[in-house]
Amino acid sequence: MSPAEPPAVEALIDGPVLVVDFGAQYAQLIARRVREAHVYSEIVPHTVTAAELVARRPQGIILSGGPKSVNDVPAPEVDPAIYHTGIPILGICYGAQLIAQQLGGEVARTGRGEYGRTPLTLTDRSPVFIDWPVDAEVWMSHGDAITAVPDGFVATARCPDAPVAAFHDPERRIYGVQFHPEVGHTERGTDLLERFLYDVCGAAPSWTHTSIIEAQVEKVRAQVGGAKVLCALSGGVDSAVAAALVHKAIGDQLTCVFVDTGLMRADEGAQVEETFRGQFHVDLVHVKAADRFFGALAGVTDPEVKRKIIGELFIRVFEEVARDLVAGVADGAEPDEPVGFLVQGTLYPDVIESGSDSAAKIKSHHNVGGLPEDLAFDLVEPLRLLFKDEVRAVGEELGLPHDIVWRQPFPGPGLAVRIVGEVTPERAEILRAADAIVVEEVRRAGLYRELWQSFAVLPAVRTVGVMGDGRTYAYPIVIRAVTSDDAMTADWARLPYDVLERLSSRIINEVEGVNRVALDITSKPPGTIEWE
Ligand code: XMP
Repeated sequence: MSPAEPPAVEALIDGPVLVVDFGAQYAQLIARRVREAHVYSEIVPHTVTAAELVARRPQGIILSGGPKSVNDVPAPEVDPAIYHTGIPILGICYGAQLIAQQLGGEVARTGRGEYGRTPLTLTDRSPVFIDWPVDAEVWMSHGDAITAVPDGFVATARCPDAPVAAFHDPERRIYGVQFHPEVGHTERGTDLLERFLYDVCGAAPSWTHTSIIEAQVEKVRAQVGGAKVLCALSGGVDSAVAAALVHKAIGDQLTCVFVDTGLMRADEGAQVEETFRGQFHVDLVHVKAADRFFGALAGVTDPEVKRKIIGELFIRVFEEVARDLVAGVADGAEPDEPVGFLVQGTLYPDVIESGSDSAAKIKSHHNVGGLPEDLAFDLVEPLRLLFKDEVRAVGEELGLPHDIVWRQPFPGPGLAVRIVGEVTPERAEILRAADAIVVEEVRRAGLYRELWQSFAVLPAVRTVGVMGDGRTYAYPIVIRAVTSDDAMTADWARLPYDVLERLSSRIINEVEGVNRVALDITSKPPGTIEWE
């Protein structure tokens, strides 16, 4: 790669801080930390060119950490022309080593890496270390070490096994740190990021939940004009926040559809009605379709077949409402009034995973499932730039109830994937009653938010028990509670014994048809979170 002609940078007005991704989850965490400092940030792949970066008018660029070594062949690189753009750059871990290597310094395999908490000593003054003591603790995770800084740079800190733990060229506004300021274990890590953002980049802390809402409201209005918009509510946080945001933007142009499949959690339908119809005065179509779902599921025990039946029937029911809406608009409306936008609660991690920020596909397994092609809907995705914690904050700001905003994830096919064997109304009722007790007791113990999910499962066996004077032959309920960051991996939660005791006695005493309670102590992998 040869350095290209430096692209000109015009006045940089409130552009994003772009985080260049070198793999693993590092970039996401950095982007979230930048946003927590109220500066808007986005993630870009490392294959982006300098010209493309400049075109985004970024206020700063952060090169993230990554799982590779800069001495690997091949190792992920970034277009070296970025160093000539004049845009402030901060390299973190791999990013710092890449700056050193691409600008002519040295990165050596010293054979002495540093992992975890490490003491750091400042050796020179630096605008990013203003609030730091001379000796601090930082979080390290590196095998290679920078052994010589490029021309024009000076080292500003060292660690026992990293002679250059930080370096900079303040003239060119290029900074590198070997440690991870984005993790909580690095003392003053937030200060460092804020000094880079506010002082070096000159960014203003203007990205707030109110500004997110204002920007999205404008955007939705511009996108849909006077058209009708449909939104499927699932009872979960994403669709609820998306609907509330779109409703704020376009009021009664929005129709929400809640399909009660008979496989929802206790009180879910009532809560959706109370919130959206009662509180927000949203035009809500509550389709009570439990009979159709149980009818379609009768006699079915195969997990994949169950999922398929539920997904397809959901689309059919939703389609019926959509057609009515389209027909209604067509009857009474201006002839050329556009019909058909669909709200989707896509979040930023889905956008990053799909690898392209223009990808707007409806998730095939999700609540809406997929729409028939003859109903040409365009997607409205007011959350596609937000992380989950931002979605929750926006939800609170919009006045959604805590119970919805902080609800644990719930699968699209609902209780069906927690009922092993045939799904019947009676078995769904048993599970729903047991699940409500799990939620109640976990909340009472103050554990609801810290657990990723906690719920009940109904297996397809019955066991013998004794109650009063009689022998029983009834179902066991299995308690499943897990901790996780992203549902990709999970650990079984060590629930306190007293919580387990209350769960066991309440479920057996209060739920008819259950005579035994067991605990699932399987992590993921090898287990999945849901049972089917
Ligand atoms: P598993 O069971 O695969 O689940 O460990 C991982 C996460 O995904 C949720 N899940 C679903 N969510 N539609 C959804 O919207 C689905 O079909 C579905 N299946 C599983 C599950 O609750 C967990 O959070």
